[in-house]
Amino acid sequence: MNSFIPWIGGKKLLRKEILSRFPKEQPSRYIEVFGGAGWVLFAKEHNSKQLEVYNDLNGDLVNLYRCVKYHAQEVQRECEFLLNSREIFINYKEQMNINGLTDIQRAARFLYLIKVSFGADGKTYGTNAKNISYSVNMLPEISKRLNRVVIENKSYDNLIKVYDRNNALFYLDPPYYKTEKYYGNLFDEEDHIKLRDILKDIKGKFILSYNDCAFIRELYSDFYIEEVERNNNLVKDGDSRYKELIIRNYK
Ligand SMILES: C[S@@+](CC[C@H](N)C(=O)[O-])C[C@H]1O[C@@H](n2cnc3c(N)ncnc32)[C@H](O)[C@@H]1O
Repeated sequence: MNSFIPWIGGKKLLRKEILSRFPKEQPSRYIEVFGGAGWVLFAKEHNSKQLEVYNDLNGDLVNLYRCVKYHAQEVQRECEFLLNSREIFINYKEQMNINGLTDIQRAARFLYLIKVSFGADGKTYGTNAKNISYSVNMLPEISKRLNRVVIENKSYDNLIKVYDRNNALFYLDPPYYKTEKYYGNLFDEEDHIKLRDILKDIKGKFILSYNDCAFIRELYSDFYIEEVERNNNLVKDGDSRYKELIIRNYK
């Protein structure tokens, strides 16, 4: 199934490449460390014997996931009267910074802001006619898929420590090198090195997606690195191909 939201760096176009490189034998736990819109999680077959974990450090995003998991109908109801207008967009953006909203009201406003904004940044009003009903209609189905998924709101370092086992599979999609600023202050340049240092000592398996650059190739030179190419929809003229890396600690 598809995700219900757009997200900066979302792996909609890369999800099949990633899934095709999952280990042949089923791990008993699957952990998506930098969850975002969860394109890989939603595309993956659910296995009732496997523990699945979705994690992200963005608190508003995790609140949306939790509200959709436990209160999909209430979020739908809250979204019923939301209209697409610049004034409402600005209003909701301001409301996200104040206390006093319920979790469900906050979740509905956050969903609205990422759907209506330009490039899902939640900040700039997108002038393309968008409505949120596609996402809102999907909520019951998303809620069902999340039924057995544990939702966490931790930083990657702590999360990996908590869930690491011999039979774990981690999928990691960190902010790409030099794009850290698009995700607030959650991840900085030193975190790329810290993440590699943690991953080199884990007991479980990992599969990691990154932008193709010399820094990341060097950082992960001890692992299996594959280059994949996809079209970049944002480029109108010229070379629209974009290279990414899929890195694993297993073959
Ligand atoms: C490239 S996006 C992941 C996109 C996701 N794979 C998808 O398909 O939508 C990176 C995510 O990492 C999250 N993030 C940033 N710093 C983090 C940290 N220190 N620990 C956990 N998550 C973090 C961001 O909030 C963002 O959602």
